[in-house]
Amino acid sequence: MSTVANASQGLNKDLGYKAHSIGGFRFERDEYFAHIFYPGGRHLIPVDAFLRALMRDVAWGFFYGTVNFDNVFGTVNHYGTVEMFVGLFNEAYRGSNRHHVETFESKDLKKVFDEMLDDWTNEGFDPFAAPDETGLVFGPKKGNNTAAIRRQRLVADRMVGLPGDLTFRTDPQNRQLADVPTDKPGVFAEPGFENDVHAFNFFDYLSRSDVTWNPSVVSCVKDSQFCATTEEHILPITHGNDRVEWFIQATDEIIWDIDDRGTGKPRSKVVMRAGDVAAMPADIRHRGYSPKRSILIVWENNDSTLPQLYASGKVAPYPVEF
Ligand SMILES: [Fe+2]
Repeated sequence: MSTVANASQGLNKDLGYKAHSIGGFRFERDEYFAHIFYPGGRHLIPVDAFLRALMRDVAWGFFYGTVNFDNVFGTVNHYGTVEMFVGLFNEAYRGSNRHHVETFESKDLKKVFDEMLDDWTNEGFDPFAAPDETGLVFGPKKGNNTAAIRRQRLVADRMVGLPGDLTFRTDPQNRQLADVPTDKPGVFAEPGFENDVHAFNFFDYLSRSDVTWNPSVVSCVKDSQFCATTEEHILPITHGNDRVEWFIQATDEIIWDIDDRGTGKPRSKVVMRAGDVAAMPADIRHRGYSPKRSILIVWENNDSTLPQLYASGKVAPYPVEF
């Protein structure tokens, strides 16, 4: 433990940021980096990348499976508890027994992550925005951007646009989705059903989203969750699937790096263009690159028995045998 204590004294400049701790982990930030101290060492992540990843991990409730901040540090969701790790899915760390894992109650880790995100996010920096649409995060502490990191999801009772429910987005179209048509569908309800039948232009709705890489649940039928999202720049985390995940590329193009989930060894590159559909296997991790803002629809199966079925090999990690 003395290694950790000594190392932390390297950060004795008072930049206005607090240190945040849970279990054997302690997080500190300086002008440029998040420093992650753990029993056995210290890991560094550029602070802009760290906060973008932290924002997703918090907003998604630790998501499905693994959220890799980079190829060393991340979290694994066990749906009630969460593992925080260094090197768990890194062959070199595992091979030399230098990995470290601790398990926390999800609500306890979320509380620490929420506080750290708020403390370390400077005025003018929005970790949900594309880099070209936000200010810089670097330097000493300067104000905060609590409004940006505490965005509330909009939840319709029945459907956006129905009487008494949420109204259609009033935000402007994003600069990179300004070519998305805004025409409205015709709705011809039978007499007596005017308050129950409705439709809106979903592309138009999504083109007004002010966040990137943040799947919103669009429809939920039993375990079928249809999630739409707008993507620009780089997915801030590398997602390790614990189930098959379907992608429908609705506009533009995303290039995906697909690696082995356990070791991080590269498996393939997938280029998805508008209209392409892919089933991302249950045994991979993936990170997407969207050169221009694009619309992606992610179809998730929320069945809680799936991770065990895949992990035990009872079910193949892909949906179809050709
Ligand atoms: Fe995924």
